[in-house]
Amino acid sequence: MTVQDARPTVIGIIPESAPFSREQRAWLNGFFAGLLAPEVTPGAAPYRGDLPVAAAKALAAEHQDDAAPWHDAALPLTERMALAAGRPLRQQLFAAMAQQDCGQCGYLCATYAAALAAGSESKINLCVPGGKETSRTLKRLLHEAAEEPLPPRPAPEPAAPSSVVGTAPGCGRDRPVEAVFRSATPLSSKGSGKDTRHVVFDITGTGLGYAPGDSFGLYPSNDAALVDTVLRALDIPADFPIAQKSIRQALIEDYALGLVPDALYALMACVTGGERRRKAKALARGEDPGGDAADLDVLAALEMLGPIRVDPEAFLECLEPLQPRLYSISSSPLVSPAEIHLTVDAVRYDVAGRQRLGVASTCLADRLTPGARIKVYLQKAHAFGLPTDPNTPIVMVGPGTGIAPFRAFLGHRHAAKATGGAWLFFGHQHEATDFFYRDELAALHQGGALTRLSTAWSRDGTEKVYVQDRMRESGAELWSWLEAGAHFYVCGDAKRMAKDVESALTEISARHGGKGEAEAKDYVAGLKAAGRYQTDVY
Ligand SMILES: Cc1cc2nc3c(=O)[nH]c(=O)nc-3n(C[C@H](O)[C@H](O)[C@H](O)COP(=O)(O)OP(=O)(O)OC[C@H]3O[C@@H](n4cnc5c(N)ncnc54)[C@H](O)[C@@H]3O)c2cc1C
Ligand SMILES: NC(=O)c1ccc[n+]([C@@H]2O[C@H](COP(=O)([O-])OP(=O)(O)OC[C@H]3O[C@@H](n4cnc5c(N)ncnc54)[C@H](OP(=O)(O)O)[C@@H]3O)[C@@H](O)[C@H]2O)c1
Repeated sequence: MTVQDARPTVIGIIPESAPFSREQRAWLNGFFAGLLAPEVTPGAAPYRGDLPVAAAKALAAEHQDDAAPWHDAALPLTERMALAAGRPLRQQLFAAMAQQDCGQCGYLCATYAAALAAGSESKINLCVPGGKETSRTLKRLLHEAAEEPLPPRPAPEPAAPSSVVGTAPGCGRDRPVEAVFRSATPLSSKGSGKDTRHVVFDITGTGLGYAPGDSFGLYPSNDAALVDTVLRALDIPADFPIAQKSIRQALIEDYALGLVPDALYALMACVTGGERRRKAKALARGEDPGGDAADLDVLAALEMLGPIRVDPEAFLECLEPLQPRLYSISSSPLVSPAEIHLTVDAVRYDVAGRQRLGVASTCLADRLTPGARIKVYLQKAHAFGLPTDPNTPIVMVGPGTGIAPFRAFLGHRHAAKATGGAWLFFGHQHEATDFFYRDELAALHQGGALTRLSTAWSRDGTEKVYVQDRMRESGAELWSWLEAGAHFYVCGDAKRMAKDVESALTEISARHGGKGEAEAKDYVAGLKAAGRYQTDVY
């Protein structure tokens, strides 16, 4: 059963016991059905995780003449929308995406927008990094477009034959297979501010074939203790039956308990009164009158606006499905053909005295036991991989968990006896506790697969030192690598690091390549266009 299948069909959202007249209940049921329609329409287009690379490229090529100045993950949504104002719907939808091309939705930002505009995709909640901000904007744009008379649209083109990605099991988020979790060994040592793990999955018998640069998708489950607290807050018995399972199991496996969906606030507005009702209504409209709702998860919202009593099915209907998470693969199929390795930071943080747990990262770090089988899939890289010529030099910039694909690259090149130079920029907080894969990197250096390693420990000195500082310090040499045809790679944080690294490379091209500012920007853009500047950022 897929996550979508698990959502119950709710005919009456407002329970019979709620204090409404028949007419009021009918109106509210209609209101909620409309509110929820885009996410729950039966027979909605399937996920396009199967969108073959060829089809994605064709869609992207179709739009290549469209300048997309908003395609910059560092720009806030309001600026991106302003840049796309007055443009066709497809481009405005594109601007509303988080611009990371991270692949979690199964598309690229442009192709997800094109699919929504063409009507071949109906789900507006697939952009994980964009979150509620993006899904709200998509909803508004599509709603406004539906109100306007539109010129006849050409029928969406059928997807190209799927020979590139394939329709094989395990290829894409809607065709997961089961892999066996083996281990999640700490990479950060005692005293580190982080808890980063080296995670191993056994993929024997799954048929999954991967390449360096690919990502691994997995369907996590929620923390059972959180689910129990939510059920207690609603006074719902844990064994209340939902489809084929208990509500407790359904909440663990199928529903997101993170950021609160607007539909849940709307439901709360219907079953509360006074100030709580006014607040819930405002929150459902995307407002935050008290300025205290930005970090609310489902439990925190129930505690703030509750206690509420609702029909269990109505509650579930207001939640979003639990989405899979992607991780850059940190192993090479030449070294570990039967395994997939990941480098995962366990996300844990406190809000208002309660520890919040990242669903997937702590599922891997804390909750899975060796031998557990979980649903996984392969997300082929769309433009991130080793150069085909093993003599081509590579420069890799990957602070923190950004090192993941570069461990795969280096292992692969070592196994393939590639002769091209390889320079890795790695950084983290402290050398003593956060130097991931230190011994492996030393061995790769000794074996010749890693030519040069530059490290930046941000919290070891009095001033922060980042990977881009190390790039600037070695600017002349870095420039000579680029001039020798090196491919340049960046992996890790999309919002700040990737942008700063690009600025540093632009400065280096200006300074050491004797270029003006505009010419240096063109040079970096040229590297990207030639496929020599590739990113895997999130
Ligand atoms: C292509 C791709 C590759 C990736 N590769 C890797 C990888 O190699 N390694 C890796 O570790 N991750 C990687 N990620 C990120 C990964 O997919 C997950 O997003 C990450 O593990 C968090 O997921 P989670 O389910 O544990 O947390 P979630 O339950 O999704 O919670 C994360 C959310 O919690 C909130 N949050 C987090 N920290 C704080 C804080 N301090 N204060 C307030 N709010 C906070 C933020 O809203 C954040 O979005 C990758 C993502 C993509 C798209
Ligand atoms: N969305 C975000 O804002 C964001 C940002 C980073 C990470 N994350 C998430 O945090 C988790 C793990 O992160 P991680 O282990 O990869 O480590 P990380 O938190 O990205 O940190 C790795 C190193 O990068 C440094 N760094 C911070 N800002 C930088 C910048 N602008 N340029 C270059 N380096 C910079 C950090 O220094 P200092 O910490 O000392 O400044 C640290 O030394 C992942 O889940 C990731 O998605 C999210």
